[in-house]
Amino acid sequence: MPAITFIHSDGRSDRVDVSDGESAMQAATRQGLDGILAECGGNAMCATCHVYVDDGWLSRLPAMAGDEDALLDGAAAERRPASRLSCQIKVTPELDGLVLRLPERQV
Ligand code: FES
Repeated sequence: MPAITFIHSDGRSDRVDVSDGESAMQAATRQGLDGILAECGGNAMCATCHVYVDDGWLSRLPAMAGDEDALLDGAAAERRPASRLSCQIKVTPELDGLVLRLPERQV
């Protein structure tokens, strides 16, 4: 089972186990992680699951679709080159060890 780490804006970190087929957002919300709201339930409609992908991992993720790209423009926190929607990151065994940084706010 892969595990990923979320780093909060205050420096705290949470390591989260990810079940087969889950997105990073699903794993975070299932385990009650604060900092991911996921108001639309993973339908790429809210941008409240915004994360910054840590250095070195971005190129290992699948490319983002057009709707994710457009939605990130409206995210509450600053959009950066490493911005992604965590509901669109399906965690495969190859992503074991992935590090995602949480923005200061999601709304
Ligand atoms: S949960 Fe709404 S866009 Fe990801």
